[in-house]
Amino acid sequence: MPSPDRHATLASRNAHKARELERLLPGWAIEPLVADDWPAETGDTYEANARIKAVFGREVLGPDATVIGEDSGLEVDALGGRPGIYSARYAPEGAPAIAKLLGELDGVDARDARYVSELVCLTPEGELRGSGTLTGRIAREARGHEGFGYDPVFVPDGERETVAELGDAWKERNSHRARAARALLAALAMTLLVAGCGGTDKTGIRVLRRFFAAGPVARKLGTRFPHKPGTLPCTVDDSGTTVQATCATDISLVKPDKAVVTLTEAWNHGAKAHTWFFFIRRDGSVQSVVQEGSPSPVTTTTSH
Ligand code: IMP
Repeated sequence: MPSPDRHATLASRNAHKARELERLLPGWAIEPLVADDWPAETGDTYEANARIKAVFGREVLGPDATVIGEDSGLEVDALGGRPGIYSARYAPEGAPAIAKLLGELDGVDARDARYVSELVCLTPEGELRGSGTLTGRIAREARGHEGFGYDPVFVPDGERETVAELGDAWKERNSHRARAARALLAALAMTLLVAGCGGTDKTGIRVLRRFFAAGPVARKLGTRFPHKPGTLPCTVDDSGTTVQATCATDISLVKPDKAVVTLTEAWNHGAKAHTWFFFIRRDGSVQSVVQEGSPSPVTTTTSH
């Protein structure tokens, strides 16, 4: 196995998540944070709670650390979106939480639900974010043994089996965290594209240097950044890894300090068409949200 070229710490008490995230971020080594005195998750959004965890991780490890905070939850329509950001505190994870959920949904036919994951990655130079959701419904009984948490009762759209039956390999490609991780990688790649296309954003460039410090970065791009809607193939070589995008890109400045970039079609991780929305701010922070080719589009929006 090649040695990882990016090291990060996941500020989460959930060991499953560090293992899952390491598989989702190729070339990264993800250590779980070992700490006492975890801060209360007092944010009122997943993103705020993810940032609280990441900031705590940097207080423990020091300002040179790269720390990822993750917050996730299960939202059930029939429960008005509960347990949502309180999913971890709803009941002890596993059988007790599942029993409580099935009890609350006893006799309820409308069982639509979604998993949500937010990643906030703090580096010494800046912040990157990724969001992902997985839509589905709550089964009437628990089935399967892989995954964790509510996976034995969550049936994704287009599937008959629960996530616990579909298994960890399925989760690696399709979970809300997988989507958030891809969005995080895309945010990183987007920063690279912007810098490679002659962007002058110092923070973005410093973020890139830090992430790609392990090896020379060769950037082969189109002759210019595709600043108008149209199609232009872009290739980015990062130490032998090629990120390829067929860009049908539209960049609009929604505010003087914030650009929204809409990039349709694939990076080289699959055949399915995606639309990536990148929110790039002058301070160099980038958030990306992916809308996969699903019937129910991701509705996550950026703050600020
Ligand atoms: P937190 O993000 O650590 O605050 O907790 C999120 C909670 O949401 C977990 O304890 C689980 O109950 C639930 N959850 C989040 N992601 C998953 C997943 O992939 N499978 C099952 N349950 C999950």
